[in-house]
Order: sequence, then structure tokens, then C-alpha cells
Amino acid sequence: EYVHEIKGLSDVEQAIKEALNLKDVIVVSGDADDDVTILKELGKSAANYAKNQIKSGDIIAITGGSTIKQVVDSFPKMNNIKDVLVVPARGGMGRKVETQSNSLAARLAERLNGTYKLLHVPENLSNDILQTLTRQKGIQEVIQFIHKANILIYGIGRADKMGLKRGLSQEQLDRLEELGAVGEAFGCYFDEDSKVVWVTPTLGINIDDITTLNLHIAVAAGKDKVDAIIATEFGKKNGVLVTDEGAAKKIMEKL
Ligand code: G3H
Repeated sequence: EYVHEIKGLSDVEQAIKEALNLKDVIVVSGDADDDVTILKELGKSAANYAKNQIKSGDIIAITGGSTIKQVVDSFPKMNNIKDVLVVPARGGMGRKVETQSNSLAARLAERLNGTYKLLHVPENLSNDILQTLTRQKGIQEVIQFIHKANILIYGIGRADKMGLKRGLSQEQLDRLEELGAVGEAFGCYFDEDSKVVWVTPTLGINIDDITTLNLHIAVAAGKDKVDAIIATEFGKKNGVLVTDEGAAKKIMEKL
């Protein structure tokens, strides 16, 4: 309540933007933890922001997850641009098909009158197998497009929950905790100091790509994700964060 009394949402956006050193912050009013419809609003808001940034010839990489699905669901049909390519940011996530990055990439491409390329590589493969896959022509081509993406749209998860979702062994989960991982985004696990402490062995976007991307848009809501949001977003000068008021207020308390 403190935040609300002294500050409007645009002040909160500004304060978080400065504290995390981001390009932009958008806060949707309401709390996704108490009201599930807020996630839809979050998606709409992120879609709207992205729409204003996308131009002809762009390559857009997108992750999976239920939050990013909301972004794609509410993405307006764009008829004024051409030659946009959409790719999944990384290999498959072993989840429900409708929230997988491949499905979302295909659906987003349809909204943008563009084309898409898919990447069929499961999680948690051995390095040998990954190396072999990287040399396959079809896969190599998609990977090259992913590294050339100029816009990335991604979700953020809590490290512990994402570790479980991605089927890490108990030993690996314990290791993640030991390493102090709190947040996960595009296959990288970040500790409290925003350092990448673990990387999911799969193909696709990596942390070096993040520093060279013109624009990356993180979409994440809920108080539960606050530590993960701060860990993954801090210092991302080309990063835009779209979040809800519930998370934003808690971020303010922590900064
Ligand atoms: O990488 C993080 C996850 O994609 C977040 O998933 O949007 O379903 O919470 P979620």
C-alpha cells in the first residue's frame, strides 16, 4: 500500500527502470496472483509494446511458457510489415504443445504475416549428442537465424520450479540450489547477483546473444517470481520488463 500512496504506476515503472537499469518497464495494474485475468492484460500490454517495435525484415525469437502464450494469444494481426521471421529461442521444453516455443513461434508468425522455422531438439541431451545435432544442416540453419534475431520475447521462471519442470535430477536440483540459482530465463539460471550459474544443455539463444540483441522483452508476473525477475533482469540495458502491479510493488520493496 505504501507504494500506492506516494506513487502512481508510471512512477513505479520509472523507479524500477532506473534501479534495474533497463530500457523500459511496463506495469499492468492489478495482481496476477489474485486475479487470473491480469495475465491476459499482461500479455496484451507486452504484445502492444512489441507490435510498436517490430519492423519489416526483423527476426524474432520467442520462448515458451504460459505467460508468453498470453502474449501470442493477444497479438494483433499486423498487415503493414513484411519478411518477418519467427524462431523459437531454444530447443523444445518438453511441455504441453500449446505452450512450447515452437508452437508459439508458428502462431506469432501467422499474426505478423511472416514465416517461421522450428527447432526440434529436446532438453537435457548429452554434449556429444548436442554437438552432433549442431552439425546437421537443417538444425544449423535454424540456430544461425536464432543467433541473428534482433528481438527476443521471453518468460521468466523461478529456478527451483523450472529445474523441476525441465526434469533435472535431484542431484542437479541440489546443485542448482548450492549455486544460489534463483531465476531462469532462456535456459540460463541466474543467482541473486544476476550471474549465470548454470545453463540448460540445449541449442539456441545464449547469454552472449542477450548482450548484442537490440531489444529483449521479458514478460513475467506474480509475487512468487520477484526474486527471479530481479536476478534475470538486473543491468539489461536493452531489456524491457512487462510485469504486474503485485510483482512491481514487491520489487520496489526489495530495491
Ligand atoms: O522460462 C520461464 C518460463 O517460461 C516461465 O513459464 O510463463 O509458464 O510461468 P510460465
